[in-house]
Amino acid sequence: MTHQVRAVVARSKGAPVSLETIVVPDPGPGEVLVKIEACGVCHTDLHYREGGISDDFPFLLGHEAAGVVESVGEGVTEVAPGDFVILNWRAVCGQCRACLRGRPWYCFNTHNAKQKMTLADGTELSPALGIGAFAEKTLVAAGQCTKVDRAASAAAAGLLGCGVMAGIGAAINTGQVGRGDSVAVIGCGGVGDAAIAGARLAGAARIIAVDIDDRKLATARKLGATHTVNSKETDPVEAVRELTGGFGADVVIEAVGRPETYRQAFYARDLAGTVVLVGVPTPEMKLELPLLDVFGRGGSLKSSWYGDCLPSRDFPMLIDLHLQGRLDLDAFVTETIALDDVEKAFERMHHGDVLRSVVVF
Ligand code: APR
Ligand code: ZN
Ligand code: ZN
Repeated sequence: MTHQVRAVVARSKGAPVSLETIVVPDPGPGEVLVKIEACGVCHTDLHYREGGISDDFPFLLGHEAAGVVESVGEGVTEVAPGDFVILNWRAVCGQCRACLRGRPWYCFNTHNAKQKMTLADGTELSPALGIGAFAEKTLVAAGQCTKVDRAASAAAAGLLGCGVMAGIGAAINTGQVGRGDSVAVIGCGGVGDAAIAGARLAGAARIIAVDIDDRKLATARKLGATHTVNSKETDPVEAVRELTGGFGADVVIEAVGRPETYRQAFYARDLAGTVVLVGVPTPEMKLELPLLDVFGRGGSLKSSWYGDCLPSRDFPMLIDLHLQGRLDLDAFVTETIALDDVEKAFERMHHGDVLRSVVVF
């Protein structure tokens, strides 16, 4: 059997997305059919549309999603029909060197559904990050589904599937923020704000938010920043040192992805502190540093991949904290929109008006 559903497709490079009827097959071995309840709009969806990630058009966009399992294929034991699940885009193999060495977030044998979803004319679709959740139903691998408490709203839960997990994980998994630490977060969009929320969860004593936009700093305060610095007006390295007794932060999280902010992150940390890089630079960007500073300052520079998360460990735990009122996931949902408003949401994202627009079905 197949399912005909409405979905958001990017047909060609740079062209506005279109609402299409697509064909989704019943799940085969190891596959799961998920009825999507909510899917956030992420920068990566826009990168797909612009051809910045691959040329495999047409793309079925959307990858930050939660929904309910409708049916499962042969051999699927992880989830069952009716389960409320968050989707992830890194179903790891469990057998490669990275997985066996306890660093599964560097597994490059990740897998997705094997069967293809198509346009009505049979053209095969490429699902964004192997998910494709701007669709009433989508087909994924069982390892891409994590069951969580149904009491959470789908809009909030879905956000853990990408950007919010990346930020929280940068603080708690990669940065290993501990109780009493001072933390600076450079760039307070969805990812940086999530890092702030993560630092708060981890018990950081001081959380310094740095951004060039006062509106972003106001939101950062709501999520747990104890101090804010507008780096257009004030040198952020000096400001962070001043706010940390002259030392610098124990952990600095960079969530912009530009050379000047990488540099600020490098110098805003205390000696022997940790810099966590979450912002993704472009291929031509370079950073020059005096080697004596690299050597002399000690500590570590770490990049964070998908928040170095383990979906089956982290998603249920964070949903629990959310339901207990200790992690405000709803604060990341700036607006809920309909499926045919994704193009408008891209526009708003471009202008920096929103943390997250979330499509609810
Ligand atoms: N200094 C400080 N903040 C800056 C600067 C700068 N020079 N330039 C931009 N910003 C701020 C913006 O004002 C905005 O608040 O960085 C934030 C970026 O936020 P978003 O555009 O919403 O991006 P986000 O989704 O949070 O992702 C940030 O993390 O995972 C990566 O690919 C992602 O590189 C991106 C980064
Ligand atoms: Zn692996
Ligand atoms: Zn994303």
